[in-house]
Parts: sequence; C-alpha cells; structure tokens
Amino acid sequence: MSACGASPIEYIKSMPHTKTDDIAVQLFIDMLRLRHGYDFRHYARASLRRRVMGLCRQLQVERAADLIPLVLHDDSLLPRVLAGLSVPVTEMFRDPEVFLYLRREILPLLKSFPRINIWQVGCATGEEAYSLAILLQEEDVYHRARIFSTDINDSALAQAEEGIFPAERIKEYSRNYFKAGGTRSLSDYYHAQYDLVKMDESLKANILFTHHNVVSDGVFGEMQLILCRNVLIYFDRELQARVQKLFCDSLVRGGILCLGMKESLAPRIDNEFRALDARLKIFRRLPKGVA
Ligand SMILES: C[S@@+](CC[C@H](N)C(=O)[O-])C[C@H]1O[C@@H](n2cnc3c(N)ncnc32)[C@H](O)[C@@H]1O
Repeated sequence: MSACGASPIEYIKSMPHTKTDDIAVQLFIDMLRLRHGYDFRHYARASLRRRVMGLCRQLQVERAADLIPLVLHDDSLLPRVLAGLSVPVTEMFRDPEVFLYLRREILPLLKSFPRINIWQVGCATGEEAYSLAILLQEEDVYHRARIFSTDINDSALAQAEEGIFPAERIKEYSRNYFKAGGTRSLSDYYHAQYDLVKMDESLKANILFTHHNVVSDGVFGEMQLILCRNVLIYFDRELQARVQKLFCDSLVRGGILCLGMKESLAPRIDNEFRALDARLKIFRRLPKGVA
C-alpha cells in the first residue's frame, strides 16, 4: 500500500497516462529482469516503449502497468512477451550486395579453414540462414559449414525451423538472389504449396536454430564468420559495445564480422578489427599482436 492507501499499481494508474506509461515500462523491464532473467534495460527506449504498448494490445490489457502482475505470476506468457518485444522483420538475401561480397570475397577466404563455423545472430524467422545455406551450397563449401542461427524469439525460431515462407514474397527474394550473384532459379531451392513455399530440406542439414540471448548468454567459440545484422540498432551504445566484445571473443583470429549496413563498430572494439568493406560493414578480426 502507498501512503495514500492505494496499491503501487493503482497509484501509478491514477497518474496522467504518458508519464505513468514511462514509469510502468521501466517497472515492467525491471520485473522481466528480476523475475525471468531477461534484461532489456539497454534496449533503445523509444522503440521498446512502442513494443510494450503493442504487447498491451496483444494481451488485451489497457495499460503497461497491467502487464506487470500478469507476467509476474504467469511464466507461460514469457514466450509471447519475448516475441512481442522483438522485431522479427527479415527477408531472403537482404542487402544483396552484402551477400555478393560474402560470395566473392569472404567464402574464398574461409575455404582455407578445415571447418567453417558461422554464428548468425538474431535470425528471426530464418530467411537469412536459408540464404547463407544457398550461398554455401553454390560455392561448394556447405558440407564443411555449420550455421548456428540464434534468437530470443522462440516462435520466430519455430517458424525458421519449419522453413515455410509466404509465396507472395518470392518475387522480391528472387530479385535479391540474382543481385547477390545467384545464377540458378530460386525455385530450385523450395517447393511451392498454394500460397506458401517450403525451403528444401537439404538446406537445413547444417543449420542449428537455437535460443541464445546476446545480452546474457556466453560466447560461441571458434567461429570463422559472425553475422549480426539489424539487431544492434535496437540496443544503446553501451550494450552494442558489450555485445561486440562477445563477438570478438567468439571469432577466431582472421575471422569475419558482418554487421547491418546501418550499424557500426563501437570505438572500444574497433582496434581489434580491420574494415574489409566499411560501407557494407564487413570486418576482419586482426591477427594476434596487430591489435
Ligand atoms: C530485425 S530482426 C533481424 C533479422 C535478420 N538478422 C536480418 O537482418 O534480416 C532482429 C532480431 O533480433 C532478435 N533479438 C533481439 N534481441 C536479441 C537478443 N538479446 N539476443 C538475440 N537475438 C535478439 C529479435 O528477436 C529479432 O528476431
């Protein structure tokens, strides 16, 4: 009970909406960390706030303060909360020039490694993982590669595992595929079923879709290539630097880091890397003694 006799949540609800929503979002974020171990404190605040409000609509509660008791007492809501707070927007061969560069410049470099371990961070519904698998198959290195595709959104991961995508997006994906240096037909890699397409099972052979939180979980050791595209834009600078340190520790010397085209290396970490293409945000971890 507060001094005026109301419970803290009733007290917050009695304040003007914009101010109380900010406080409630903060309390909700604190509750998620203390109760469920998910730490959103260093996510960019404005977009996080919008997503919390979206979650209110999904869970049919009026205000952010109402989410707190609901999610505090019901573990089964956590996957819906994580899905609601994440933005699993993606596409096949997104930014095709990045894939063209990977095909022409990076895969030839990686061919010198006996195994090619790839960590694809923030895989959402899997389109980027399947694009990578196609690239690796066409460059004849897929049999030596392992793609670890990770995300915190379990429903997106389940869709990624199924590899079923809306047929209406295939035209756009085919255009991206050709711009990425593809020479076959994208239809060689899926089976159409009415308004859906199912990616060929062979593409999934060396992909592991799994839950991993870059904010709190540990390194993926001995990676030759890490792609983390369009994930760091949702983090503040401090968290971006922390997560990039995790990538640095996960990469072998000479390994490659590929960020989203709107993202950049944190000042604290950029002496560990050399830009191979500064515009495409593709970096190489420097050999020992050079950093
Ligand atoms: C906009 S999508 C990017 C998808 C893909 N990489 C691309 O560029 O098309 C961002 C993804 O990052 C995931 N994500 C957000 N926070 C994360 C975290 N802490 N650990 C792992 N994944 C996270 C979200 O769930 C979402 O699926």
